[in-house]
Amino acid sequence: MKALDIVILAAGKGERMVSEKPKVLHEVMGKPMIDYVVKAAQGLEPSKIIVVTGHGRERVEAHLNDGSVVCVVQQDQKGTAHALITSAQHLGDGDILVLYGDVPLIELATLQGFLSFYEDGRHITFMTTDVIDPKGYGRVITVGDDIIKIKEEIDASPEEKEIREINTGICIIPRESFDYLKEINAENKKGEYYLTDICKVARNKGDVVKAYRHGVASEVLGINSRKEQTEANKIMKQRVLERHMKNGVSFLDNNVYIGSDVEIGKDTTIFPNCYIIGKTIIGERVTIGPNVVIRDSVIHSNVNIEGFVVMEGVELMEEVKVGPFSRLRAEAVIEKGAQIGNFVEVKKSCVGENSKVNHLAYIGDAHIGKGVNIGAGTITCNYDGVKKHKTIIEDNVFIGSNTEIVAPVTIGKDAVIGAGSTITKNVPDDVLAISRVQQKHIKGYRRKKKCVE
Ligand code: UD1
Ligand code: CA
Repeated sequence: MKALDIVILAAGKGERMVSEKPKVLHEVMGKPMIDYVVKAAQGLEPSKIIVVTGHGRERVEAHLNDGSVVCVVQQDQKGTAHALITSAQHLGDGDILVLYGDVPLIELATLQGFLSFYEDGRHITFMTTDVIDPKGYGRVITVGDDIIKIKEEIDASPEEKEIREINTGICIIPRESFDYLKEINAENKKGEYYLTDICKVARNKGDVVKAYRHGVASEVLGINSRKEQTEANKIMKQRVLERHMKNGVSFLDNNVYIGSDVEIGKDTTIFPNCYIIGKTIIGERVTIGPNVVIRDSVIHSNVNIEGFVVMEGVELMEEVKVGPFSRLRAEAVIEKGAQIGNFVEVKKSCVGENSKVNHLAYIGDAHIGKGVNIGAGTITCNYDGVKKHKTIIEDNVFIGSNTEIVAPVTIGKDAVIGAGSTITKNVPDDVLAISRVQQKHIKGYRRKKKCVE
């Protein structure tokens, strides 16, 4: 195929979102919608991807700063045709595929089908689809495959409003027809330069404009409002679940939210109400849930996560057990076979192989060796009000319940800490350290008390 440039329109204000945030940065299943469009565009391997920015451009451009796209600014948002003209300075000699930043569910295979249809005659082509409720979309007036005109909702007559074939926004323009855009006027109710009016200009010149009818309307949903965003979330959620199911992942029901970039290995089972998002990678034969939240984490194979666990920025090695009711925060690394139990919080710490932190503990800024047992109620006191300090617990240490470890401190290997101790000094290897008040027995105490009363 001939060279191709892709222009993604993303300058609009998105007023119907009622938001401070530029519309194309609003998320669908945890990822800004523009990212989906850019990814689909990249799949076509074009010569260039140009993103037209405008409203909130600093934020949009900062988001798209990995060098894979060129951004061009549309100072005033005078309509989709005007936006496309703005990209002229960056166009090469390839034909121009236009995608909309607010149509994020489009799939690469669909775009490939669209391009091969176009290749047949190389006419200006719009992707259209039939919808049950066409409200808000441009209505496509056709004779056979030829588009006569596209009428925006606001300008459409009552009869035209009945038409259910709508413009998806996706279109392709042969390089030599790009100049048609300059002849588009803004004589419509919104006073905007509509890209869809290229149909009129082309036909006046005796050129034809084609409709490529796509059968899956849900894939070309345009997101203008929060309601449509929720609709897109639902569609994307189901799409992601189906992809994982195909790859051998089980879900007890559909009420699971998995971000589109999450990877999951086969024979993993996910219970209801889990929310797994960001750059998360999950291995094989993992069990998760119910009600587990996982963000940006790596979970190796054969891990078992019980219900109500929340984790972010964490790595769990093979055969780890976590939960129920644990919280693992950034930079927690749980080594092979270790166990983190209920009401345990771990932050910026490594818990060594086969170590156990099973009940009601806080482990922060700590390095825990192998085979360590941390008793219930143990706290690493890592913060002195100004600075964070580190706790080192070497291999095979046994920490009795309700111990406070005031960092910075090191507990040598094989040491035992008596329950209820407050450890403020380094503990040598292989000793019992105990720092609690001796138990006293006071005889006749209750009798004496009664006399006083
Ligand atoms: C547009 C189409 C409509 C189609 C629908 C599909 C036009 C005139 N209308 O309507 O036929 O059915 O999409 O979803 O094209 N944008 C700019 N600069 C502008 C205006 C818009 O970059 O000056 C961008 C927006 O950021 C958005 C896209 O173009 O990504 C579409 O604009 P929007 O205002 O959402 O158009 P719709 O009313 O949805
Ligand atoms: Ca739109």
